[in-house]
Amino acid sequence: MRIIDLRSDTITKPSPEMRERMAQAEVGDDVFGEDPTVNSLQEKVKELTGKEAALFVSSGTQANQICINAHTRPGEEVICEYRSHIFNYEAGSPALLSGVQLHPILGNYGVLDYENVKEAIRPLDHHFAQTRLISLENTHNRWGGTIYPIKKIKEMRRLADEHNLKMHLDGARLWNASVVSGISIKEYAGYFDSVSLCFSKGLGAPIGSIAAGSAEFIDSTHYYRKAYGGGMRQAGILAAAALYAIENNLERLKDDHRRARLLAEVFNTISGFVVDLQGVQTNIVIIDTSLNKKPAPQIAAELAEKGIKVQAFSSTRLRVVTHLDINDQDIDHTIEIIKKF
Ligand SMILES: Cc1ncc(COP(=O)(O)O)c(C=O)c1O
Repeated sequence: MRIIDLRSDTITKPSPEMRERMAQAEVGDDVFGEDPTVNSLQEKVKELTGKEAALFVSSGTQANQICINAHTRPGEEVICEYRSHIFNYEAGSPALLSGVQLHPILGNYGVLDYENVKEAIRPLDHHFAQTRLISLENTHNRWGGTIYPIKKIKEMRRLADEHNLKMHLDGARLWNASVVSGISIKEYAGYFDSVSLCFSKGLGAPIGSIAAGSAEFIDSTHYYRKAYGGGMRQAGILAAAALYAIENNLERLKDDHRRARLLAEVFNTISGFVVDLQGVQTNIVIIDTSLNKKPAPQIAAELAEKGIKVQAFSSTRLRVVTHLDINDQDIDHTIEIIKKF
């Protein structure tokens, strides 16, 4: 049976060309800073983000967490969005590793309201954890790949500056936002003290993320990467895949976005499935199944039996993600199956 896996853009497998680039990579010991391919990836990301330094790490979680750790001290507080990745899917590591508490605020399509954030910033008083950092997510995974408007980012930056707060961007899928909005990675990154980017999502590399920021900041994240057991040795093999991904798989993200839109529109015509089309901005589609008699996990299981794998996000929500290993024929086939479903 033909299997079409729409659960996540992390499931992609490296292409023969990407593997060839990995096989040819020049390597060295990256813990000594001597891997030339890792170094050139870090240089490339410095250029792309306009930041002074970058550090290659194993995962998006690690990139976010070393940044949180380097920005904060135990007992401090980080403001984030309620459905954000750092709050929901990073295993409680802000508490575990940095000793900080998160202060989540429900946003709209992942976008935080200025007044709500202003209200959430703790006054300087011994009763309170001190607010140190605001973390934003762009695109926003759990809200369905939504793009954080640049106007709202600028507004948040002003607020952060007024209160002497740092800003971190979880940019695991910033590539997708940039391709749609036409706003460069550099412009987005310019509003933040630190940014994390992933190569293993839409860009299709097998492993790897990166944190970027000032030279002093990235120097301090080195310590946390080591402390988390994240120092890698001949990591150039992985960095080569990331370089290949940046060079070859960035512009094509618009195909993923077009396909996600098409799937969203079709799902929306089927009774028992509702998609908020306003929220479909990149490669993720969230399908509300609350009008369906079956719970979302059961629908996902039944679709899987027909060869279509989707993710149950909750008892009433499914998530569908388009990616590098999905082509137009896969979309046509998926549409055929769901229309019959
Ligand atoms: C928005 C966002 N940030 C961070 C991550 C973490 O990435 P990783 O799975 O590489 O730790 C993910 C993973 O899907 C994500 O969607």
